[in-house]
Amino acid sequence: MKYEMAEKVLNYAESVEAHIPESKVWDSSTQDGIQIHPGFLDGDLKNFFPEFLNDNTPNLLVRGLPGYGKTNLVNAIITSILRMYSKEEIELYLVDFKQVDFDLYFQKPTAPQIKVIDYDNYGAYIEKSIDSLLELSKERISLFTKLGVTKISEYNERLGRATGESSPMKRSLLILNEYTAMLENPVILRKINQLLKIGRACGVHAIAATQSNRTREALEFISQFGLTFVVSAHPSKNQKGWVDVYYGGRRASKSYKTPFCDENYIRESLRKYASLALEE
Ligand SMILES: Nc1ncnc2c1ncn2[C@@H]1O[C@H](COP(=O)(O)OP(=O)(O)OP(=O)(O)O)[C@@H](O)[C@H]1O
Ligand SMILES: [Mg+2]
Repeated sequence: MKYEMAEKVLNYAESVEAHIPESKVWDSSTQDGIQIHPGFLDGDLKNFFPEFLNDNTPNLLVRGLPGYGKTNLVNAIITSILRMYSKEEIELYLVDFKQVDFDLYFQKPTAPQIKVIDYDNYGAYIEKSIDSLLELSKERISLFTKLGVTKISEYNERLGRATGESSPMKRSLLILNEYTAMLENPVILRKINQLLKIGRACGVHAIAATQSNRTREALEFISQFGLTFVVSAHPSKNQKGWVDVYYGGRRASKSYKTPFCDENYIRESLRKYASLALEE
């Protein structure tokens, strides 16, 4: 209880709206990667800074003990992405192995960037989503091979130069919540490992969250994550939602404070983006 009172003052809705104003909604480009907003750098309310999913760090692993704010952080990241990037720039595949946490994103009407494939049949939904991303990756790789490029950044650079085209090839982001359950499903695990391996060259990124330390069973999977956020409580401030950053397993000397991301705000945003898409 002591936690809650101090923290709800720091609110992700206000933070994201102050730093990505209305005039900037759907105004960002994924040309060089996807911006990830974990909150305030070192807790300083002036510094709402992003980390990046790009060629160097295509995928993000979110770890932390139960109840310390992983789902809140993932919701915050999704909220800022939906605000920054249009459906021409990004598509989101949201897979929660507990199913419940992401349900709100599939209530209609939802934001146009969210990919809905047979969601009512949840068992099939997970595999179909991964299959769809695998197919997309394979198509892109054969296109790149034909054009003599090796990765999306090169493709965007060349396409931009050749045609003066302003929008880059769309990025896909697969978000896996509580993926530990996936380790017991060899078919899904094999497909995801394949996807992470080939996806990194062609604009398919992943964020995976877990409360488990069982990394041994998932070595091949974990090795694809160059960026890690470890969510914990601040040692002296009695606050949840502090994020330590690791690049390639090495701790960086910085942390972020993630504000509280209210689910009502998320629902409101989803409705707003759904109607914005209809106006276009
Ligand atoms: N950054 C934050 N600021 C304020 N409160 C927070 C924050 N993060 C989490 N909380 C509070 O803690 C509760 C649990 O957080 P959350 O569900 O994000 O944890 P989790 O790490 O995903 O837990 P689990 O492992 O059980 O899924 C939230 O409902 C919220 O009340
Ligand atoms: Mg959670």
